[in-house]
Amino acid sequence: MDLVCVDDFEVHARNILPKNALDYYKSGAGQETTLDNNRKAFSKLRLRPRCLTNVNSRDLTTTILGRKIAIPVGISPTAMQRMAHADGELANVKAAEKHNTVFILSTIATSSIEEVAAAAPHAIKWFQLYIYNDREVTLGLIKRAEQAGFKALVLTVDTPFFGIRYADMRNKFTLPPHLKLANFQGEKASKINETKDGISGLNNYVNGLFDASLTWKDVEWLMRVTKLPIVLKGILTKEDANMACDLGVAGIIVSNHGARQVDGTPASIEALPEIITEVEKSGKNVEVYLDGGIRDGTDVFKALALGAKMVFMGRPALWGLAHSGQKGVERILDILKMEFDSTMAVCGCSSAADITKDKITHESTYSKL
Ligand SMILES: Cc1cc2nc3c(=O)[nH]c(=O)nc-3n(C[C@H](O)[C@H](O)[C@H](O)COP(=O)(O)O)c2cc1C
Repeated sequence: MDLVCVDDFEVHARNILPKNALDYYKSGAGQETTLDNNRKAFSKLRLRPRCLTNVNSRDLTTTILGRKIAIPVGISPTAMQRMAHADGELANVKAAEKHNTVFILSTIATSSIEEVAAAAPHAIKWFQLYIYNDREVTLGLIKRAEQAGFKALVLTVDTPFFGIRYADMRNKFTLPPHLKLANFQGEKASKINETKDGISGLNNYVNGLFDASLTWKDVEWLMRVTKLPIVLKGILTKEDANMACDLGVAGIIVSNHGARQVDGTPASIEALPEIITEVEKSGKNVEVYLDGGIRDGTDVFKALALGAKMVFMGRPALWGLAHSGQKGVERILDILKMEFDSTMAVCGCSSAADITKDKITHESTYSKL
C-alpha cells in the first residue's frame, strides 16, 4: 500500500524499527500527556477559509535569518539518527538540501559535523548545541560548526537535566555497538553506554556531562565567543521570551522538546501566542519558530497563522529515514509541502503574508452555538 501521509510512515516505522530505537524515538516524558497534547492542541484550532481570492499561483517560500527557503518546514535536531537508517544524519541533511530548507544537526549525532557538511555542502545547516561542563569541548564544537559552514547555533535551553522517559529506563537504552556519538572521543562518546537498572545510558550521559548550572549569562558568553546567530530552542514562556529579546538573540524555537523533558508543559502551539505577543512588544527583530506535533500541512498553516515564521519537525523525519533514508525524508517533506500548499489554496492564501490570525480560531469560538 502507498504511504500517503506522515502517520502512514509512523505506522511503518513502528513495524520495522528495533524496540530500543523505536521506544527512544517515540517516547515522551512521564505519562506522555504533553506528548498527546502536542497533537490534540492542533486539533482544537479551526481554520477560517476565505473564498474567491484568486489562489491560482501560490508562493510557499519564506526568508529565515536572511536566507530564502522553499517551504516553511525544517528538520529539528534529533539525536542518533543512524538507528533509523544506516545513512542517518547524512540522508536527512541531503533531503533538506534537495528541498532547500533548514536542517539542524544535534550535538549528539551519529554523524560528525564535518561528515554532514561534506554530504550536503549547499544545505542550510544549523548546529544544535548542548553546553558541556567542559567548556573546552563546547568551544571545540562551536569552532568546528563555524569552520564547516553551519549558519546558526541553536542552543537548547530546556535540558539542564534529562527528562524521565519510562521506556528508555525499562530498556536500559544504549547506542547499538556499531554506532558512536560521532562528534566526540573518549568519555564524551562512550558514557552513553553506561547503564544501570532503571537508568538509561542517555540519562547517565546528559546528567553526567551537560552543564546544569547554565543561566542567561551563558547565553551572553555564547554570543561573545561566536559570530554566528544564536537561536534559543525550548522557550515556552513570555518571561523567557522577554529575556531572549533583551539579549538580542536572532531567533527562538518555541518547543517542549517533543514533550520529552517534563510531562505537564503546554503543547508548543499553546505556548506560541504568548511568545509572539512578547516578541512583538519588545520591538526586537527576533524570529519565532515552532516545533512539536507538526504532522500535516494544516499544522504548518496553523502555526504560521499564530505568528511563527516557520516550523520544524523531529519524529516525522525519523519515520521517513526508517522507511528509505534520504528518499523517505524527501517524501515526508513532499507530503508536508503538498498539504501546506493545499491548505493555503483552500483557505484563500497566496503567500505567507496572507496567513494571518483571522484565518484561525479556537474551537471554543463555536461552542456557544
Ligand atoms: C528521538 C529524538 C531525539 C531528539 N534529540 C534532540 C537533541 O539532540 N537536541 C535537541 O535540542 N532536541 C532533540 N529532540 C527534540 C527535537 O529537536 C524537537 O524539539 C521535537 O522532536 C519536536 O517534536 P516532534 O517530534 O513532534 O516534531 C529530540 C527529539 C526526538 C524525538
